[in-house]
Amino acid sequence: MTKTAVVTAGTGGIGLETALGLAAAGFAVTVVGRDSERGARAVERINATDPAHPGRFLPADLASLDQVRALADRIAAHHAASGESLAVLVNNVGAMFPERRTLDGVEASFVVNHLSPYLLTELLLPTLTAGAPSRVVNVTSGAVGVARRTFDAVEPPGGYYGFHWYGRAKLANLAYTLDLATRLNGTGVSVFAADPGGAATVMTDGTLTDPKIVSPALRLLWPLVRRKFERSTSGPASVAAKPSIIAATDSALTDRTGVVIGPQMRPIAPFRAATDHRLAEAVRRLSQAHAPTTAKEGT
Ligand SMILES: NC(=O)c1ccc[n+]([C@@H]2O[C@H](COP(=O)([O-])OP(=O)(O)OC[C@H]3O[C@@H](n4cnc5c(N)ncnc54)[C@H](OP(=O)(O)O)[C@@H]3O)[C@@H](O)[C@H]2O)c1
Repeated sequence: MTKTAVVTAGTGGIGLETALGLAAAGFAVTVVGRDSERGARAVERINATDPAHPGRFLPADLASLDQVRALADRIAAHHAASGESLAVLVNNVGAMFPERRTLDGVEASFVVNHLSPYLLTELLLPTLTAGAPSRVVNVTSGAVGVARRTFDAVEPPGGYYGFHWYGRAKLANLAYTLDLATRLNGTGVSVFAADPGGAATVMTDGTLTDPKIVSPALRLLWPLVRRKFERSTSGPASVAAKPSIIAATDSALTDRTGVVIGPQMRPIAPFRAATDHRLAEAVRRLSQAHAPTTAKEGT
């Protein structure tokens, strides 16, 4: 029976390396991205890694929740028609914005780093459950440590600092990941977070050079902060992909759920704030309001 895996933002950076790792482990891999040429190149590399299980590219801009819904429909329909089980969903998409932006009225880093993977996962739960045992892997970040921890609204009051807003959206997603693991206990769907540490990718090269992404206090220390960013994001994406690959494939994780795989490729204690039930509840309310999966949630 073919095991299939979907990797979002899987046509470049850490996502492509994750896709190649899953192909090497014998999965038929579908990668999601915006650019069809990059998609075609990713499929070529997947096919060169594992000719027995052809790769597939699905185009979607995961910054658009409408496109996330259409993508989920397409994936669910494919699995319903083919009878193949969806064994792994890696929610790898992530983005950091130097300037405040909104997408359909909602702050962009919250959309891309949390609402989008949240919605895709929720919409694919019937497919993942039908294909159980299956795994969801949500890609997290050490930036959760600089996050404001209130989730009464999409954004906290005050100025906009892209790195901190990114970390806050990743914290929301990590709290959701741990909450979902509890919710799905006993269904055969395991839920993991994977922290890649850092890598030189489009995301880090493009934004971590701009002092505007950090708060005024950190900006005063910018030469030091920048050096720290440079050091922590200098490695190859192939190494940063390993925590996701382990979370998706390691047999030692069979029957486990709610585990965070750290940059050293071992389970680590989850960032404490993400285990707070009140925080998870606030994130759930925000997610249901801004990315409803049913007509009732959107009201
Ligand atoms: N790099 C790091 O140091 C680091 C550290 C901690 C955590 N992370 C996390 O690791 C994950 C991967 O990061 P990365 O550095 O590899 O990112 P990246 O360089 O931006 O990844 C590039 C990939 O993302 C796709 N992508 C970007 N925006 C997209 C969108 N709106 N819709 C669909 N696809 C989109 C690109 O597709 P197109 O080419 O089609 O645009 C490409 O496949 C993210 O969740 C990130 O937050 C990264």
